[in-house]
Amino acid sequence: MKMIDSGVREVTYGKNVRVIMPVNLYECELHDDVFIGPFVEIQKGCVIGRGSRVQSHTFICENVSLGANCFIGHNVSFANDLFRAGGPDPDPAGWIRICLGDNVTVGSGATILTDSICSGAVIGAGSVVVKPVTRKGIYAGNPARLIRPL
Ligand SMILES: CC(C)(COP(=O)(O)OP(=O)(O)OC[C@H]1O[C@@H](n2cnc3c(N)ncnc32)[C@H](O)[C@@H]1OP(=O)(O)O)[C@@H](O)C(=O)NCCC(=O)NCCS
Repeated sequence: MKMIDSGVREVTYGKNVRVIMPVNLYECELHDDVFIGPFVEIQKGCVIGRGSRVQSHTFICENVSLGANCFIGHNVSFANDLFRAGGPDPDPAGWIRICLGDNVTVGSGATILTDSICSGAVIGAGSVVVKPVTRKGIYAGNPARLIRPL
């Protein structure tokens, strides 16, 4: 059995970044004033924008970028491999990149399966976001739908 420790590896970070261990963070960027709660995984190629908070037990897959001052609740999952060919795609070239704007708020237990969420959007707890969110508003449900614009 080969055991590989989790931890913090090749992370670029700005000023006043706080990380509550244990976490698994590698080959990603954390900008100034970011907070990362415990039991979070952030994979390579991710950028967490200035002032953003990622609460405990959240999983951020490869190539996700968050703008400034986003709030990602507990146990949120981002998925970049959408199983479009009927199962896991071994080729990262087939995976989506996910980009959140500034001041995006994501409720606990939400799943993000889309490539973009615009600035100022709010995603309800437990929602499954399957389409790009292009208009500022509150979205909830599975699939997530606009509850009301903001
Ligand atoms: C999405 C949310 C912001 C909406 O709040 P709101 O604007 O006050 O909405 P309301 O409670 O008035 O609900 C409006 C409608 O949306 C539905 N709804 C609200 N939240 C929902 C959710 N998370 N998933 C599915 N439907 C939801 C309500 O049932 C209601 O439906 P109806 O009109 O058919 O009765 C809120 O319910 C929510 O999920 N907040 C996330 C909180 C959270 O995760 N915090 C983390 C702290 S660490």
